Amino acid sequence: MRAVLFDRYGPPEVLQIADVERPGPKEDEVLVRVHATTASRTDAGLRSAEYFVARVFTGLLRPRRNVVGLEFAGEVEAVGAAVTEFAAGDRVFGIRSGSNAEYVCVRESGVIAHLPAGLSFEQAAAVADGALSAVSLLRTAGVGDGTKLLVYGASGSIGTAAVQLAKHLGAHVTAVCNTPNLELVRSLGADDVVDYLREDFTRRGRTYDVVLDAAGKTTFLRSRRALKRGGLYVTTDPGFLWHDAVVTLATKLGARRKAKLGIVRYRKDDLRAVRELLERGAYRPVIDRTYPLDEVVDAHRYVDTHQKAGNVVLTIGGTG
Ligand SMILES: NC(=O)c1ccc[n+]([C@@H]2O[C@H](COP(=O)([O-])OP(=O)(O)OC[C@H]3O[C@@H](n4cnc5c(N)ncnc54)[C@H](OP(=O)(O)O)[C@@H]3O)[C@@H](O)[C@H]2O)c1
Repeated sequence: MRAVLFDRYGPPEVLQIADVERPGPKEDEVLVRVHATTASRTDAGLRSAEYFVARVFTGLLRPRRNVVGLEFAGEVEAVGAAVTEFAAGDRVFGIRSGSNAEYVCVRESGVIAHLPAGLSFEQAAAVADGALSAVSLLRTAGVGDGTKLLVYGASGSIGTAAVQLAKHLGAHVTAVCNTPNLELVRSLGADDVVDYLREDFTRRGRTYDVVLDAAGKTTFLRSRRALKRGGLYVTTDPGFLWHDAVVTLATKLGARRKAKLGIVRYRKDDLRAVRELLERGAYRPVIDRTYPLDEVVDAHRYVDTHQKAGNVVLTIGGTG
């Protein structure tokens, strides 16, 4: 089968499409024929090893696991003998590393669910990473009914998901993004929008219970002014561990405003919850661009601009 591989860290050009052996499902696994997948910031970060510390998990000098990709949407081709939830022909989507390939094997208990009726493979591929990351971060931040939340980087994959999901939780959402994306984030349900090119969200005289830095583009030090007493800053940026380490320590020691790194955990029950929203038409996957798998290098070049709105989809063969 064809798959996107990389055998060294670096720019998009390290990616190559090659033939590799097609996996076979173990007893508890589902073999999925992938019709759509994505090029995400997480994929680009693993490819470039932007955060050197990540190499502890992915391989110090060279990547250990070398098929790229996280999200998939496709059709079940075959199932292992112990699988009961899925059958050949089912349309499914979810998260599995190595998903930029024609086939992936996913454990039945893994992050996989049936596609809601009416959703295309392309739309479904653009759901799981952003939405499940956002759920994880909103949970870490304790966002709920009445929370005054500011989402910084609201037009990215995690940001567009966080705005929508926080509204479902009953939060009041202020979304910060660039001028061309203001209408997009309004249409996703943001109560208030701030154009970061024209206005500094920390100097509007408004304060929030939570500042969620969905794009990893601001800092706790800067955001502090916009936090209420007892307020919390949550970031997606692992670099935060180094940049703001002293501040984090200080917040642990009793400062009035706190900061946390949001560690993302992909959970099957969260995927099922998002699926229900999709089924009711209450969640919209945002797709910026779509490329055929053969143009994965161009897709990564675009992701590397850090300006994608929502998600970049890769299609494999026919979609629908
Ligand atoms: N902690 C974890 O476990 C974990 C897991 C997954 C991902 N991540 C990280 O989460 C972050 C976000 O991921 P993502 O997929 O949502 O990213 P993304 O889709 O690539 O984010 C792109 C968005 O960032 C915004 N942006 C770019 N520069 C900006 C700036 N200077 N100020 C404000 N916004 C800016 C852009 O909005 P405009 O065009 O409107 O400027 C664009 O819409 C990444 O850093 C990723 O590595 C962390």
